[in-house]
Amino acid sequence: MNDYDSARLGDLLEGEGLASAGREHEADLVVLNTCHIREKASEKIYSELGRLAQIKRERRAEGRDLTIVVAGCVAQAEGELVLRRQPAVDVVVGPQSLQRLPELLRRAKRGAPQADTDFAVAEKFSGLPKPSAAQIAARGVSAFVTVQEGCDKFCSFCVVPFTRGAEVSRRVADVIAEARRLVQSGVREITLIGQNVNAYRGLDEAGRERPLELLFERLSEIEGLARLRYTTSHPVDMTQGLIDAHAALPKLAPFVHLPVQSGSDRVLREMNRRHGAQPYLDIAARLRAARPDIAISSDFIVGFPGETEEDFEATLALIRAVDFASTFSFKYSQRPGTPGAERADQIDEATKSARLARLQALVEAQRQAFNAATVGRTLDALFEKPGRHAGQIAGKTPYLQAVHARGDESLIGRVLPVKIIAAGPNSLAGEIVRAGEAA
Ligand code: 5AD
Ligand code: SF4
Repeated sequence: MNDYDSARLGDLLEGEGLASAGREHEADLVVLNTCHIREKASEKIYSELGRLAQIKRERRAEGRDLTIVVAGCVAQAEGELVLRRQPAVDVVVGPQSLQRLPELLRRAKRGAPQADTDFAVAEKFSGLPKPSAAQIAARGVSAFVTVQEGCDKFCSFCVVPFTRGAEVSRRVADVIAEARRLVQSGVREITLIGQNVNAYRGLDEAGRERPLELLFERLSEIEGLARLRYTTSHPVDMTQGLIDAHAALPKLAPFVHLPVQSGSDRVLREMNRRHGAQPYLDIAARLRAARPDIAISSDFIVGFPGETEEDFEATLALIRAVDFASTFSFKYSQRPGTPGAERADQIDEATKSARLARLQALVEAQRQAFNAATVGRTLDALFEKPGRHAGQIAGKTPYLQAVHARGDESLIGRVLPVKIIAAGPNSLAGEIVRAGEAA
């Protein structure tokens, strides 16, 4: 989502007559678009700001200036505190009031640092400028489209409901119009994004609330759009209608990112995830019944307060039962204002590290096995950019695996069948199956 928001910030600032600086030391304005999800990401901002403040001092000594903006969820969570912790900052702007940045910059220029952390989501979607064809083309053949923002789930470890606010869905027609514009400028793959994307309930032209699968049906009709994806989903919003869309819509990639966080019913309850381990296994089974070649990925947190060895073993058991294609896993991080952070039964750092290492060894083995199992298969790859070596072209399989093959840049934007010949640790090697050749 920060990736999408950063692109919108770029569109906005270009509309103000600014151009992207090739290198940081040439920039007159630096925007840090920040993440608050874990402490490590959040604290990194302040060391970065310290460095920028030093550059600003040097510039000022030469009679020039550097404008510093902090955007995103740290801006939202800490507001004016950012200005107090680092006085060199000119503007603090939350993720839902990005569209106000030009006005905030004008006011800051008049001398007073500005902080805006309103939740103006509807205004954000209507108030951000549309990218030009050239801007879209420069960003490549795969694009994000935000369809939903915010979260009403309040998992007890998570800051998102506080930083991104309540769930809001964009209108069906607005999403379709944005997608059409992208496709007209060469985009071939669209990933619909939202903190809780499968909770999407957007109004259609008749004013009715429609679910995410309706968007996939409508987007499937756009000629030239080859692939659809979505992220991130919550298990309780994984409806049969959405599962059925995987069977019905060939453009919908056979890949679902479905975070489960833990495999222990007790921990899931304390995380306020609103489901147990078995319902998650049932969803995985129903997805596989709908689309036998579907791959499932997930997020895990180890060391949530009170997590016992038995709870952790239950997580490993769930991982063995599902068999994931890829995963993200994290040590629990205490986030200010969340119920988990208040608990007295925090898990010590050494235990968290040991559990994370054990979990990662298991999921890494599953990922490698998944990649190895694609060797010999022919998968459709969307080619995105030149490969690392001359005469090579790089793309993605339906399962988001990086793949490279012999080919030139004229193939960028094409979806072609590729016979996978080898699986390395981080990418696959393949051969494009030319028309007329047997797959
Ligand atoms: N500590 C560790 N990981 C977290 N996540 C969210 N909040 C925390 C936290 N406090 C992880 C979850 C989520 C992903 C985006 O980040 O796994 O799915
Ligand atoms: Fe955070 Fe996702 Fe839970 Fe919402 S559903 S509170 S975004 S982890």
